[in-house]
Amino acid sequence: MAYIVGEPCVNCKYGDCVDACPVDCFYQDDNMLYINPAECIDCDACVPECPVDAIFPADENAPYDETQTKHVAPYYVWLGENFAYSDENRVTDKVQVDHGPDWDETKAT
Ligand code: SF4
Ligand code: F3S
Repeated sequence: MAYIVGEPCVNCKYGDCVDACPVDCFYQDDNMLYINPAECIDCDACVPECPVDAIFPADENAPYDETQTKHVAPYYVWLGENFAYSDENRVTDKVQVDHGPDWDETKAT
């Protein structure tokens, strides 16, 4: 089991998760971040750091039942398992994360 980045990250990309990860297994494209399931050690460190609760375990539909994320969680599990991970799109420091158009400074840390 690995952790997965879900819908709340889309167009936001706060980046706090990146600095929390001990194995640097976050990657990004223009829309969101992805966790490489082959590298994630399931340490749970990133989960409480995300201001919009975008990160959830891949073996659960979602920890927040009342949100849209529950219904689209399988899609994000699929995305996380099929993203084209490479050294070029790996992010190892929060400053490398390009915030999206929905980034909200009142939620950022
Ligand atoms: Fe990184 Fe741990 Fe989060 Fe996996 S659970 S992405 S290893 S911080
Ligand atoms: Fe995305 Fe949350 Fe990380 S919005 S970039 S998963 S801190």
